[in-house]
Amino acid sequence: MERTSIVLGGIALPSSIMNASGPRSAERGEIYELSAVHAGALVFKSCNVAGLEAPDNLKNRGVEHFAAIARELVSRGKKIVGSIVGASEEEFVEVARALDRAGVAILELNLADDYVAGSLAPFASADRLKSLIGKVRAAAGCVLAVKVPPKSPLDARVTAGLLKDAGVAIAVCQNDLPKDLEIDVASGAVKGGARALSQAHAMYRESGGALDIVAVGGINTGRDAYIAHLTGAKALQVGSALIKEGAGALGRIDRELDALMAEQGKHSLSEIIGKAAFA
Ligand SMILES: Cc1cc2nc3c(=O)[nH]c(=O)nc-3n(C[C@H](O)[C@H](O)[C@H](O)COP(=O)(O)O)c2cc1C
Repeated sequence: MERTSIVLGGIALPSSIMNASGPRSAERGEIYELSAVHAGALVFKSCNVAGLEAPDNLKNRGVEHFAAIARELVSRGKKIVGSIVGASEEEFVEVARALDRAGVAILELNLADDYVAGSLAPFASADRLKSLIGKVRAAAGCVLAVKVPPKSPLDARVTAGLLKDAGVAIAVCQNDLPKDLEIDVASGAVKGGARALSQAHAMYRESGGALDIVAVGGINTGRDAYIAHLTGAKALQVGSALIKEGAGALGRIDRELDALMAEQGKHSLSEIIGKAAFA
């Protein structure tokens, strides 16, 4: 077993590192390149039913493009995370059905984008969130993940409870740690009083182990990855480093994380996940 392997939402993955939805994950060539260079899960760019030309950050070729690629890669044993955007509950359900039928392991509902906030506003109330997730849950059998908006009107406790009750296994959360965070990597000791250090950490603390947390944002090095694990993340997504550096960024961060774990005498990620402690 690899030192950085994990079980996420019940799915065994050889690495906790994966790409974030969007960068290098929209076109067939990019997706095949990511798949070839890194053994971990592969996250597709968010897609809707027919594709979008705007907004620019959600340009995509529509769900059939991704479903076709999923069928090919799943048949070779790749674990795929499909990502959904939509302007209505019905659109989320249609995309979820198509990706689920294509064999994706995990469906990530991208509820973090302004496009979704502006149309469905799923985080405007607990009822809206429950309604959307309930419909997707009824339509798709695979593991569900929700990408939580950076500034959610619902607090972490309410959100964690709702996701858990709705049958969601994974929360994809912001790794928005303070820039001046003082943390001792060897012991996990954090300077200052007990507090939520990031959205990912808040959701980890509030979910009481019922949700697996994936942290996204600012993961550029093995040390960033190690600290995100210490603050509760089971897996990590990499965006900007992929844009800057190319597909090789995933393997580099995985190797750096592995080396840091070895240096600290850790044999598995379970020894560090959530182990940040206040002095
Ligand atoms: C060019 C670009 C496109 C993106 N497209 C998507 C997307 O389709 N779906 C999504 O959930 N997030 C999307 N994101 C957000 C990333 O998944 C990630 O949350 C963000 O880049 C923060 O991670 P980073 O600090 O590693 O870049 C996109 C980001 C960038 C830079």
